[in-house]
Amino acid sequence: WLEESYPHYDEYKQLISWRSYVVCDVNQADVNNWLRTPFIERGAAERLYIEVKFSMRDCTHFPATVRSCKETFSLLYYESEFDFADEAMPTWNARTYSMVDRIAADEGRFSDNNEVVINTEVRSVAASKRGVYFAFHDEGACISLLAVRVYYVTCPNITLNHAFFPETPTGREVSSIKQTIGGCVPNAAQSRTPSYLCTGGGQWDLLTGGCECVAGYQAIGQQCE
Ligand SMILES: *[C@@H]1O[C@H](CO)[C@@H](O)[C@H](O)[C@H]1NC(C)=O
Repeated sequence: WLEESYPHYDEYKQLISWRSYVVCDVNQADVNNWLRTPFIERGAAERLYIEVKFSMRDCTHFPATVRSCKETFSLLYYESEFDFADEAMPTWNARTYSMVDRIAADEGRFSDNNEVVINTEVRSVAASKRGVYFAFHDEGACISLLAVRVYYVTCPNITLNHAFFPETPTGREVSSIKQTIGGCVPNAAQSRTPSYLCTGGGQWDLLTGGCECVAGYQAIGQQCE
């Protein structure tokens, strides 16, 4: 993988340099190119999302003698309790890392005759150690890796039934449901335990219980005044 700079106009029409990683060993056998992110701390996340923007050349664009040309790459990850990676570790090996997915250019590939097509692919993995490395394994494709974004999804903080529910990261699995217990707003007391369920997509569901304003206070919106 080589680091390259692309001239690119940003939203203020300023010429900036867009850095990308490119690889194009389409005419070699047994290609084994690895690129790894720095250590990314998991923080409060239980599930990490990774968005990858890239472009890929169409293999038909190369002469027929180029037999090892590929049109996919592998996205892998490695969880760790500390940042220990160096030039040799974790071993550059698909058995050392865990596979996320083999990624193809779903939006399309490009040849010299058409415009560059930018593909955006999103994958997610459950995470439980302190942090994670993501790695890109190329075995003979012609790729420009333009942008990588790692993030997690939360159910946003919300006040309902005079109870405040804090921002809650979604659970380990997309299908996970996490119960969050709310706290009463000032001058309110619990009638029944305020509970809200945070779904894997970051939406709240099934609100139960709540709080009521104590004597001497009246409900104004979600507050007790
Ligand atoms: C609730 O979320 C809003 C919007 O993201 C934020 O501005 C605010 O600080 C949050 N409040 C608390 C108490 O976390």
